[in-house]
Amino acid sequence: MMHTFTLKSRIRDVYSSPIGRDVIEKLLLQLGGGEKFIKNPLTMSLKLSSLQTLVKKPLTPDFWEALLSLLNSEKSACLEKPTVSERKWWKESVFYQIYPRSFCDSNADGIGDIPGIIAKLDYLRDLGVDALWICPIYDSPQDDNGYDIRDYFSIDSVFGSMEDFDLLLSGLHDRGMRLIMDLVVNHTSDEHEWFRQAVNDPESKYRDYYFFRKGKEGGAPPNNWISFFSGPAWKETGDSGSWSLCLFSKKQMDLNWDNPEMRQDVYKIIRWWLDKGVDGFRLDVINLISKTPGLPDGNEFIGELMGMRGIERYFYGPNLHDYLHEMREEAFEPYDAFTVGETPGIGIESGKLLTAPDRRELDMMFSFDHLEMPGKTRFDEYVYDAAFLKTYYTRWMRSYGNDYQTALFYDNHDNPRMLSKIDPQGKFRDKLAKMLAVIQLTLRGTPFIYQGQELGAVNMSFNNIDELRDVESLNMYRELTSKMPEAEALRKVGSGARDHARIPMQWDSSKHGGFTTGQPWIKTLADGNDTESQSEDKDSVLNFYKRLLQLRKNNEALVYGEISVLKTHELIFAYSRESGGEKYYIECNLSDRQRERPANRPDVELVLSNYPTESEKMMAYEAGVYRIRN
Ligand code: NOJ
Repeated sequence: MMHTFTLKSRIRDVYSSPIGRDVIEKLLLQLGGGEKFIKNPLTMSLKLSSLQTLVKKPLTPDFWEALLSLLNSEKSACLEKPTVSERKWWKESVFYQIYPRSFCDSNADGIGDIPGIIAKLDYLRDLGVDALWICPIYDSPQDDNGYDIRDYFSIDSVFGSMEDFDLLLSGLHDRGMRLIMDLVVNHTSDEHEWFRQAVNDPESKYRDYYFFRKGKEGGAPPNNWISFFSGPAWKETGDSGSWSLCLFSKKQMDLNWDNPEMRQDVYKIIRWWLDKGVDGFRLDVINLISKTPGLPDGNEFIGELMGMRGIERYFYGPNLHDYLHEMREEAFEPYDAFTVGETPGIGIESGKLLTAPDRRELDMMFSFDHLEMPGKTRFDEYVYDAAFLKTYYTRWMRSYGNDYQTALFYDNHDNPRMLSKIDPQGKFRDKLAKMLAVIQLTLRGTPFIYQGQELGAVNMSFNNIDELRDVESLNMYRELTSKMPEAEALRKVGSGARDHARIPMQWDSSKHGGFTTGQPWIKTLADGNDTESQSEDKDSVLNFYKRLLQLRKNNEALVYGEISVLKTHELIFAYSRESGGEKYYIECNLSDRQRERPANRPDVELVLSNYPTESEKMMAYEAGVYRIRN
């Protein structure tokens, strides 16, 4: 049993609790503090209230109330080694994420679709990936490109039909590949039948499937929470003075997971797709499903620090573990289905609590803390220092690596491309793309490659707001232009726009990169980095990915092997993987300058490198996979 924390608790004790450790580390990262503070025995013996000295602003009683209630909501201690650690297909697989709208258009309407994906299944098999995660293809008004679901039991006509879906699934299974769907159940579309009934008939049982609340005096929303997509997290709904909660767009209404009937309805959806034969799910913002009862205001200081007022009231809610556990028992476990949670804000220790096999909640989770440098947000204009990847992964590998399974990724449909963050001018595009691939495919965990990453895809330049499509960008631009000139607002939105990763795949050198013969729904890039030309070039990023994927597939040490990170210069990331008698050594130069090779490298022979020959010094972004001689 853990302590009940108060302001008098020692930082050491708070730090030994899972949520305490994650929160302190996050606070320190955001405030620019760090390891030194944590490792200093003196600071560790201070009282919690002395955190005040680190912060320039006075911390108000509601800050402490919010922090303590979060800390005290978790009664479990930090986990040690899991008691069960089985071999699983999803630990051995490499996943490939498809953003269907931008993958391949088969009917010239300018939008990618399921038959387009089917046409590329051989490409994906030949690339060497084992499973696909497909972003939502359910019936939807497409306010947030499908993350606003109107009907969970049908396919949106822009993507095709249920027959197309069945063909996709059998096409994958015939090739020995698997499919996971995107399950969005923190919220539904406001056009979903449940929400419509809830609005039309306040007496209906569906009213309690969502959060309807009266506004505050003077017409303000019920609390001060901010939406992820700008403005208040509430929409005035139906009769005047009544609001309902929407943490994302105004058409994505948060479901009330405290309602048991609602939860059962969600499990029915899951079982329906599992009966069809899908292999699992990626669970959209699944850590947001349990909200603090009473929906109290968020703390201003935490809101400022995290860029999201209200977040501490729901990112790790009081019933999160119970709901995940119940969902697993009722829906996933009977099918032995795989789950990976999208869990923004969750750190290492709380991540373990969510994914420890014997706790039976999720199988795996995505952490996002490496996507920006500490203290930076997605919308800041800065150059990402690849050395941070070493800091981040070393921490994860040390505490998670050999015992828990984590998801390894850099790109997805919600972020600009990692390549462009590190090297905005694209000077080292190929070398860096290959180095990132080496790290992703040789660390301990399950890699998720996002479409185009295997070609070294980079950001798009958006020169006008009319070129952007994403609801997040458009809302943000509207909000910013009330405070700053349009050009400045566009720059800011452009730095973090999700559309960078949503521009279409390039299949050949024809117009629109062969994505469509119609008018594409968004700007396309045809810069010669397409699958056709890269297939023909033996040194291409694509062919490097293929070789690396084969290497991982054929060598268990790269999948289940123990990982140990070597002590080296901070710009050299070197580690070994070992299983049975098989031993690998990976050595990467995280900088764009030459560096000395580590003096303590083992006796090795080169297996794969992003440079044609090995020189005495390490070259810019050089990455090598070596076999260790016994
Ligand atoms: C996370 C998804 O990845 C993102 O694309 C979406 O906008 C939000 N969740 C809301 O569903």
